[in-house]
Amino acid sequence: MAKLTVRDLDVRGKRVFLRVDYNVPLEEKDGQMVITDATRITATLPTLKLLIEKGGKLILTAHLGRPKGKPEPTMSLKPVAAKLSELLGKPVTFVDDCVGEKVAKAVDAMKDGDVVLLENVRFYAAEEKNDPAFAEQLAQVADVYVNDAFGAAHRAHASTEGVARLVARRGGKCAAGLLMERELKFLGDELEKPARPFVVILGGAKVSDKIKVIDRLLEKADTILIGGAMAYTFRLAQGYQTGKSLVEPDAVETAKSALAKAEVKNVKFLLPVDDIVATLVKTDKLDKKGKPVIEFLNPSVNSNMNVPAGTAGLDIGPMTVKAYAAEVATAKTILLNGPMGLFENKQFAAGTNAVAQAVADATQKSGVKSIIGGGDSVKALNKAKLGDKVTFMSTGGGASLEFLEGAVLPGVAALSDK
Ligand code: 3PG
Ligand code: MG
Repeated sequence: MAKLTVRDLDVRGKRVFLRVDYNVPLEEKDGQMVITDATRITATLPTLKLLIEKGGKLILTAHLGRPKGKPEPTMSLKPVAAKLSELLGKPVTFVDDCVGEKVAKAVDAMKDGDVVLLENVRFYAAEEKNDPAFAEQLAQVADVYVNDAFGAAHRAHASTEGVARLVARRGGKCAAGLLMERELKFLGDELEKPARPFVVILGGAKVSDKIKVIDRLLEKADTILIGGAMAYTFRLAQGYQTGKSLVEPDAVETAKSALAKAEVKNVKFLLPVDDIVATLVKTDKLDKKGKPVIEFLNPSVNSNMNVPAGTAGLDIGPMTVKAYAAEVATAKTILLNGPMGLFENKQFAAGTNAVAQAVADATQKSGVKSIIGGGDSVKALNKAKLGDKVTFMSTGGGASLEFLEGAVLPGVAALSDK
């Protein structure tokens, strides 16, 4: 059922409790935490501007990282408040708590159109437990509830679900923000009855992570193109040798059922026909997590369906790129979720980049819609500077995956129906 949106709200003079997903990547530079990608902040500006124009008092709540229920200075939202103020072009008051006295005081001082950002809500363990008493504390400053945090909508936490339920029980309205609305439109409605051919490109490491999405998309897609390490679990299912490639022997049966379902549903289900393989060598160096750094020696094209013993497949090869690009060029609707290889390493980024380029090229033709589903794919498109050449890029990682699986997101379910 369609949900109420901020467009439907009258918020003049009201306290709008606005949940946003400002879980942005940060890096330490000279003792300061610096935001390295502000996409998630920028994406909420239309909602904020509309609510400011409507004369609401905006009280923003968000989480950052996984601080495990206690204050963690490196996960403070303070740098986000500064960035938001810069992007919005108006002051944003930062409150270094999300409940209690300080919040009440700051909110009391607000005028219509003012913006306050509260400290990381996950500094309280009660947030992730969706503790009713904590939700009650948060809701003290909520006349109206708005959720624009699509990226956190798969979490049933106090700020994403509990507060909304409380506000609704008091007779208050709970609405989707404009970003939330767009996410639900593109990842939901647009893929429900897609213009055909509907071509889906799925990548990533594990079949087990993607099987629910594969299963659901086998009901809707005309063509599914598989890349990433999960292709090797499919190859294992077909009886090929996978060398040192990342595989999930436990998921072989799952892969077999997907292949069988594709036959029954008459879905063109393509697997890579060639790949880039390399020899993995453990070095003495340790990475940030204390694990040995792996070096990849002698990358080369392998055109045999068997991966040579002692090597691992790390990207799709040129023949596969050509075949996938040709499929993409015929599409009217494209969904891309997951990279084609180990794209973080530039030796193995060519496949991911070429497929992204093909999607961007297809989008530039009239009437073609391309939807990019979160996380690594968005990172890869941004890195290749193709972000503005596609129709829509999701701000959700886990949330977009769960939504594509057909799950009801608790943060959406809690909003008022139209
Ligand atoms: C994300 O970055 O995927 C969202 O902000 C949710 O974060 P979480 O996975 O820590 O709940
Ligand atoms: Mg996540």
